[in-house]
Amino acid sequence: MEEKLCAHCGLGKFGDSHLPLHQISGTLIPVEFTVQNSINKTMANIKFFSGKTTPIEMHRVRIIQKLNLLPIDQRLEAVKQAGNNTFLLKNADVFLDMLTDSGVNAMSNDQLAAMSQADDSYAGSATFYRLEKALQDVFGMKYFLPAHQGRACEHILAKLFITKKGQVIPMNYHFTTAKAHITVLGGEILEIPVKEAFDIDSTCPFKGNLDIDALKKVIAERGKEGIAFVRMESGTNLIGGQPFSLQNFREVSAVCRKHGIPLVQDVSLLSDNLYFCKQREDICKNMSIHEIALAFAEASDILYFSGRKLGFARGGGICTNDKQFYTSIRDFVPLYEGFLTYGGMSVREMEALAVGMYETLDEDVISQGPQFIEYMVNELVKLGVPVVTPPGGLGCHIDARDFLSHLKPTEYPAGSLASAMYIASGVRGMERGTLSEQRNEDGTEPIAQMELLRLALPRRVFTMSQIVYAMDRIYWLYQNRKLVGGLKWLDEPKILRFFFGTLEPIGDWQQKLVAKFKADFGDSL
Ligand code: F0G
Repeated sequence: MEEKLCAHCGLGKFGDSHLPLHQISGTLIPVEFTVQNSINKTMANIKFFSGKTTPIEMHRVRIIQKLNLLPIDQRLEAVKQAGNNTFLLKNADVFLDMLTDSGVNAMSNDQLAAMSQADDSYAGSATFYRLEKALQDVFGMKYFLPAHQGRACEHILAKLFITKKGQVIPMNYHFTTAKAHITVLGGEILEIPVKEAFDIDSTCPFKGNLDIDALKKVIAERGKEGIAFVRMESGTNLIGGQPFSLQNFREVSAVCRKHGIPLVQDVSLLSDNLYFCKQREDICKNMSIHEIALAFAEASDILYFSGRKLGFARGGGICTNDKQFYTSIRDFVPLYEGFLTYGGMSVREMEALAVGMYETLDEDVISQGPQFIEYMVNELVKLGVPVVTPPGGLGCHIDARDFLSHLKPTEYPAGSLASAMYIASGVRGMERGTLSEQRNEDGTEPIAQMELLRLALPRRVFTMSQIVYAMDRIYWLYQNRKLVGGLKWLDEPKILRFFFGTLEPIGDWQQKLVAKFKADFGDSL
């Protein structure tokens, strides 16, 4: 595709992200929407004289937030107060917040500028039409329905499609809130990823792929009526931010279309998935990021997203080309979210999201996260630390089952490691394992397929020296792993227990860990 210079400022080489921001007749609109073919243009192609390549930020930092690293005794106290649940830590007590990338990606100057243009009105705001246009441009889909965040879309889609108890929703893998909305309405999730999905240590480039034969089998067994919809999650979160290929997605789509089953794609983590397709998949090598996004949308019936991830802002929404789906979903939006032209989002966030959507098509923008993660994963592999490979999106995922192999699964190794990591470093990660599952109805513990500590790298937030610090403390913990013990419940909520549940250490391992830290680091923070 030919690279065009912007008609308004002539700065086409900066990519498309600035294009929506040219002021025409008093409004900021996407005046021209061209997509540069970014082959060989990203930081991946900067070579070093020394031969040792380090990812380089293709942005500069112009607004900062001061950080605080508490002394280790105070960290121990803070984690105790939080019930060993990193969701309950206060951010003021956290040094590097690697809990999630959700709603905490750094925004661009163009996004901030756009926010001041917000048109605040209950109905028909100009802001909505700019956001709608951005989504139509990016995905080529006719209809956009706003929602306040990703799980709100999951709520609406579950209400729309789950019409009777026991209907199955085949998927590559669940996300916690998607599963909760499906099961609360009596639906059953069926996870049928390719077998490599659960190999921690793999070279498979697309561990998020769906097993097509398994999909055909479930359709043959349950029939169209027994299946509410098929869900594919790009950048599959809970298995380590792993992508699926465009080819696999097209195959899933062909099967769904043959049987008249709606295919819903969760595109919250699409930006990572787009990057990996471009890097790893032959058919995508000569496509622009936008062409890949359009190809994914073309094969989907419905897309939904968390704007806290996709678009580097906060919010969410649903896109479709199907008038009937649009009309049915439209009825739910004012009921649960807000009027159809804001859906629970603030107009300022909608402006930021619109610009962020265009920025998602810039390979320099979307490669920063995966390249930092790749660096961190590869360095930890060299140190012998068990991490999910190949490196995925969203963050670096440590295999807590292997790291703390002396713990029983019911002692919650990933939860223990999250607590130990905070004590050792002030870095806040997130448990993504058994604690994040829902207890079975008979009271037994559903042991998660993967037991991970996720260290999320919100996009453009951390510097390389901060990554190096986190890796140093992970390595120290790995050397002292035998000191880390398990956790047991103090208070266990029934639904989504990982958000508010509190736990306590089994024994006095945390004091022993602090003592070893002081012996090794003296008065270092
Ligand atoms: N789908 C995926 C793949 C997600 O990762 C998330 C959120 C959601 C849906 C729900 O979106 O938070 O806007 O309601 N993931 C966050 C995380 C919470 O930390 O991974 P939301």
